[in-house]
Amino acid sequence: MTAKDFIDTNDFTKEELMNIANLSLALKKCIKAGYYPQLLKNKTLGMIFQQSSTRTRVSFETAMEQLGGHAQYLAPGQIQLGGHETIEDTSRVLSRLVDILMARVERHKSVVDLATHATIPVINGMSDYNHPTQEMGDIITMIEHLPEGKKLEDCKVVFVGDATQVCASLGFITTKMGMRFAQFGPKGFQLRENHIKIMEENCKVSGGSFLITEDADEALKDADFVYTDVWYGLYEAELSEEERMSIFYPKYQVTMDLMKKANPGAKFMHCLPATRNEEVTDEVIDSDFSIVFDEAENRLTAMRGLLVYFLGLSKQDIEKETEAKFELEQALQAAFKTDKELVLS
Ligand code: CP
Repeated sequence: MTAKDFIDTNDFTKEELMNIANLSLALKKCIKAGYYPQLLKNKTLGMIFQQSSTRTRVSFETAMEQLGGHAQYLAPGQIQLGGHETIEDTSRVLSRLVDILMARVERHKSVVDLATHATIPVINGMSDYNHPTQEMGDIITMIEHLPEGKKLEDCKVVFVGDATQVCASLGFITTKMGMRFAQFGPKGFQLRENHIKIMEENCKVSGGSFLITEDADEALKDADFVYTDVWYGLYEAELSEEERMSIFYPKYQVTMDLMKKANPGAKFMHCLPATRNEEVTDEVIDSDFSIVFDEAENRLTAMRGLLVYFLGLSKQDIEKETEAKFELEQALQAAFKTDKELVLS
């Protein structure tokens, strides 16, 4: 795995992540103005899904279409991935058939293995460990909704509830950006030692900070963005409704009263899908300060930026194209016995 892949935002510097965010915002502006730059013409994205998805699947496919490329949906259970074919072989084969891969996997190791053996870029579309494309969209959404007079580095983001892979990713990207991050969640459902180590390292470089607490006042104090995710847990470790309500309700539900503990004007965020009136009330998610649908739209914004960033033409690609065109021109002249100069577009 190299920096050709997008497996974890933590593999990138703050500057590189800002470059991706700015590229995404510039592409969004073009498309909103009706200009669809065909930067991915003739490029194909292979989309491997071991789990269902609405936002990730639709935004990747739309992004490819808008930029002149094409996406293939490889549905859950419909390709050989670690079943009758090793991940290594699948990865090598798909590297010959498409230009870039994204994978939503049950186990993080699967997407790491895919990237290790692929010769094309691999983007992590969510694993049981993290959700980096979600976090790119979230940072873009925060940039668009910065409190007046504040920079990203001045902001505090609070995650309320279970330490899901979205919570972990949010902790990674905010501390990388030099922001203040807090998780307000019950013991047993808080970020673990491995997450803490990464956030500590990030803060040393960026000047950011983090806090993990069961104290609502301490967590929400000075918060500019309040974020939550579902309580039902992951895959085979899913909690029943009775279990999750006994652990998280009512203390960790995002209500109007909880929002009042944050800064005036604080925004509410959720990666969606939401279990309405469980982790968040209708009143909050449908309020004027809720930016959850801008956030969902920015999945598409981020996908466009990521795809162009990882598929963008290098100087070497341009030289290879010029050389290949010259050879084709020579072959066509020989085949048709003509000296006529051919202009290949
Ligand atoms: N937030 C998110 O990843 O949504 P999907 O599961 O619908 O892709």
